[in-house]
Amino acid sequence: MTHPEIDARAFRNVLGQFCTGITVITTFDDADAPVGFACQSFAALSLDPPLILFCPTKTSRSWAAIEQSGRFCVNVLAEEQRELCARFGSREPDKFAGAPWHTSPLTLPVLDDALATIECTVDSVVDGGDHYIVIGRVQALTESTTTGRPLLFYRGQYTAIEPDKTTPAPWRADLDHFLTTTTLDTWL
Ligand SMILES: Cc1cc2nc3c(=O)[nH]c(=O)nc-3n(C[C@H](O)[C@H](O)[C@H](O)COP(=O)(O)O)c2cc1C
Repeated sequence: MTHPEIDARAFRNVLGQFCTGITVITTFDDADAPVGFACQSFAALSLDPPLILFCPTKTSRSWAAIEQSGRFCVNVLAEEQRELCARFGSREPDKFAGAPWHTSPLTLPVLDDALATIECTVDSVVDGGDHYIVIGRVQALTESTTTGRPLLFYRGQYTAIEPDKTTPAPWRADLDHFLTTTTLDTWL
């Protein structure tokens, strides 16, 4: 099989057409300091058992701490958390300075204003080129009680959904089936 040369700029531009939400993935390091990084490569993976995945670059210091602790929290960012996202997307030593956070009952650092939090243990790690694919087993879930909107990332920039899209869509039998049933022809 041949591997055609893929231009890095074209790769980024084309993949940037895929709009995602943004998370900050956190843990405590071995000195009990909170650490974390901005991560768009997050996805739901399996309902039974409950699994999610994210992809850290192999040089991420946050990943090194997560690998050590074996646990992490996925914080789903709200539209107002752009600045916070920029800080967690940098290599600043103390990214939590000025970021309101608390320790969860499962002893993980949680960002106070996240739209949702998903606490996990590391289930398995797969090689993914210059990244790893980390599969996490979900241990606890929380959802914000406010009707905040998610922060989005599209074509290398932050963006958001339309203001009127704050309430969940009305219940639909076809989608409910899609989101809660595992069959050979549905992915979740
Ligand atoms: C919007 C956004 C999305 C990002 N998504 C990822 C990602 O999916 N995987 C990754 O390894 N880094 C991602 N990064 C870059 C990391 O957040 C950044 O390299 C990280 O802060 C490295 O710091 P660390 O060494 O402290 O972990 C993203 C950055 C931003 C701003």
